Amino acid sequence: MAQKIQGTEDLYGGYMRSWQHMQDVARDLFGTYGFDMIETPAIEQVDTFVHGIGESTDVVRKEMFRVVSGALFENLLEAGTEKGLKPKQRMAMRPEGTAGVVRAAVENNFVPQGAAPAKLWYAEAMFRGERPQKGRLRQFHQVGVEWLGAADPAADAECIIMLMEFYKRLGFDPSKLRLSINSMGDAACRPAYREKVRQFIYDHKDEMCEDCLERADINPLRSFDCKNDHCREVMKSAPLVTDNLCDDCREHYEKVKKYLDEAGVAYVEDPTLVRGLDYYTRTVFEVEATDAGVGAIGGGGRYDGLMELEGGKPTPGIGFAVGFERIALALAAQGSTLETPEPECIYVAGTSAEEREAVFEATLALRNAGVRAEADYQGRSLKSQFKQADKLHARLCVVIGPDEVAAGEATLRDMDTHEQVQVPFESLADAVKARLA
Ligand code: HAM
Repeated sequence: MAQKIQGTEDLYGGYMRSWQHMQDVARDLFGTYGFDMIETPAIEQVDTFVHGIGESTDVVRKEMFRVVSGALFENLLEAGTEKGLKPKQRMAMRPEGTAGVVRAAVENNFVPQGAAPAKLWYAEAMFRGERPQKGRLRQFHQVGVEWLGAADPAADAECIIMLMEFYKRLGFDPSKLRLSINSMGDAACRPAYREKVRQFIYDHKDEMCEDCLERADINPLRSFDCKNDHCREVMKSAPLVTDNLCDDCREHYEKVKKYLDEAGVAYVEDPTLVRGLDYYTRTVFEVEATDAGVGAIGGGGRYDGLMELEGGKPTPGIGFAVGFERIALALAAQGSTLETPEPECIYVAGTSAEEREAVFEATLALRNAGVRAEADYQGRSLKSQFKQADKLHARLCVVIGPDEVAAGEATLRDMDTHEQVQVPFESLADAVKARLA
């Protein structure tokens, strides 16, 4: 039997409705903040991710699914190296949404000089070659937003406020969510801070893992995020970014916190929060469901240098993404669910094959009137058609037999009370709708 790849899931039934519900809530809420939907390709040039996400990140170093077209794959196997590939032949499945949206913004000039910011949201599958476990998949789904062209700290605060409202509308108990925030500085203050952390790692090199020693050369801040517990313990005494911010970054951070305080949004400051992607500047944030044990259910931050890294003009940006699968798990841990009830359905039953045409017409008429209608397509007996109707949770059943055809009327049966009434075929849709209302 063919099997799905480990770390991937089939979305169907109630689980699919949960994903759709999450998108509906996002469309509604993000719409009031002025965000429009965007979809970028699931594959991009590798460089789009390397430039944006950063060479030193686990996502780029270890987790990107690389894509090679069929013909090139053979060449690649023969050559044993990708060195001969042109940049546009080096492709990857998107591990996250931000780099692709920013690439699209640069390519399509979404934020021309002097224009209003571009506000975009997406609901897409992402791909990361991680070791699968609970809440960690290789294909997962994110709802995310990117707000390009706004440098104002109010934008940071509004993003976070909107995110916390999103969780509330999805059914989370806000008291069981922990929002952590930090500022990571910018091009003015981070280089000197990075140097301090690099020196700290060199001073503690006997206590750090191989990966961290390598990180010290490329991006020492990644060591705050090391998967090795001992490294993280050592890093607790490393210099903190919040003690090393320049005046502009400090002022920006203070304003963000002030806006959050004014809006009554609770947060904890975590000066070791560095996030797993290199493009962040200034504000970063992450949300955890405290009783779920599934890791972060969302995170984001400001990325004022990313547009330039993707070849555009300097343009500030901020955004976040939340993981659908982790949200579903975290809500379940709080005794709640994202699942919406199955939509109501009407079953049209015929007493024998003779009535098939009348059943066909009645079913179409109901659907044309906007009623979700089902019928039998397997020649079942009336009894098993009723059973089928029960399985579909049909509240009403339309029954058509020879008497009904002769009289030009259908029998409308309430499946709970078993009460029956006769309704002329031409007013069937109206009668059904009236009863459902
Ligand atoms: P991220 O923190 O890498 O940020 O991912 C955001 C969310 O996606 C996580 O909090 C988690 O809920 C979910 N997630 C990540 N990896 C997995 C996985 N392997 N399996 C299941 N769920 C996962 C970003 O992706 C940034 N692009 C967010 C952003 C947007 N920053 C600015 N704009």
